Amino acid sequence: MHILIAGGSGFLGSYLADHLAENGIDVTLLTRKPKKQQAKNHIKIVYWDGKVLRLPPIDKAIDAVINLCGESIAQWWTPSAKKNIRDSRIIPSKTLVNWCRTTEKKPKTFIQISGIDFYQLDSEQCTESDACGDTFLAKLSKDWEETTNPLQNTPTRLIIARLAPVLAKTHPPLLPLLLATRCFLGSIAGSGEQYFSWIHHQDFTTIMQRMLQDSQYQGIYNVCAPHPIPYKTFMETLADVCKRPLWLKIPDWILKKLLGDMSSLILDSRNVLPHKLLAQDYAFQYPEIHQALTQITEKK
Ligand SMILES: NC(=O)c1ccc[n+]([C@@H]2O[C@H](COP(=O)([O-])OP(=O)(O)OC[C@H]3O[C@@H](n4cnc5c(N)ncnc54)[C@H](OP(=O)(O)O)[C@@H]3O)[C@@H](O)[C@H]2O)c1
Repeated sequence: MHILIAGGSGFLGSYLADHLAENGIDVTLLTRKPKKQQAKNHIKIVYWDGKVLRLPPIDKAIDAVINLCGESIAQWWTPSAKKNIRDSRIIPSKTLVNWCRTTEKKPKTFIQISGIDFYQLDSEQCTESDACGDTFLAKLSKDWEETTNPLQNTPTRLIIARLAPVLAKTHPPLLPLLLATRCFLGSIAGSGEQYFSWIHHQDFTTIMQRMLQDSQYQGIYNVCAPHPIPYKTFMETLADVCKRPLWLKIPDWILKKLLGDMSSLILDSRNVLPHKLLAQDYAFQYPEIHQALTQITEKK
């Protein structure tokens, strides 16, 4: 197989590219900063600007495209930041979809990343059939997903992966929480009762590979572990595996004052379930948070 990953230089893209390459799959990474990337066995780096896609002559046609582009949402949501967050998703996505429709040999699969913030937050459990919310991120996720509409009813199999925060010790959201906890500064944000949906990075890469290789996968998927937990339980578990006390509480009004709209990333409840993955018998390697955090934090 030959997979094109846009946004492949980032946290998820590099984990995924390495995982696919280790499994003998050829990967071409699209990036705006090719000098910062290192070509590896099975991994080729190609420049693009996100607006136009012209691939150099390649000996192996592209079988699938994975779109992971998007500027980080963990920044102050000023009007210009919101525009950048939006444009960095919508524009590359339209470029990739247009390329898929017009290239001579059409890719068999297109995987579009989206987020679980698509849903109405603070609601009860959400599954794939639940409606879109009305927050900035919900509306953005909807518009982002809709850029792929031109691929509906084409030979390209379309998958939309509504992804939960991916846990790995090297990257947010876990990295800052892990560092704070190890320094005895772990804290419970707000009431701590808000739900936290999550996924271990190994499940993320395995699910992506499954979606590429198994044509039964099609349409919208919540890509999250089957057991979301209250934020308080998440922090207590992290403190437990790090063998540290958890004594700090940060009231929600302080977080709202400090972070503005962005505080919703921590304070809103995300109780999302992977109904479709379970229905297709995906067996999670890390279904429970204690097991996931123990594996991630153990010294290798
Ligand atoms: N990490 C998570 O837990 C998580 C959870 C849910 C959803 N997601 C979504 O998954 C995607 C990848 O997340 P990540 O954590 O890997 O992010 P990341 O580390 O910040 O990487 C983002 C990638 O997007 C590319 N990019 C940014 N702006 C771009 C633009 N204007 N045009 C073209 N490419 C652009 C960057 O490529 P270059 O700078 O090399 O061009 C980079 O490779 C994001 O859209 C994110 O919202 C992530």
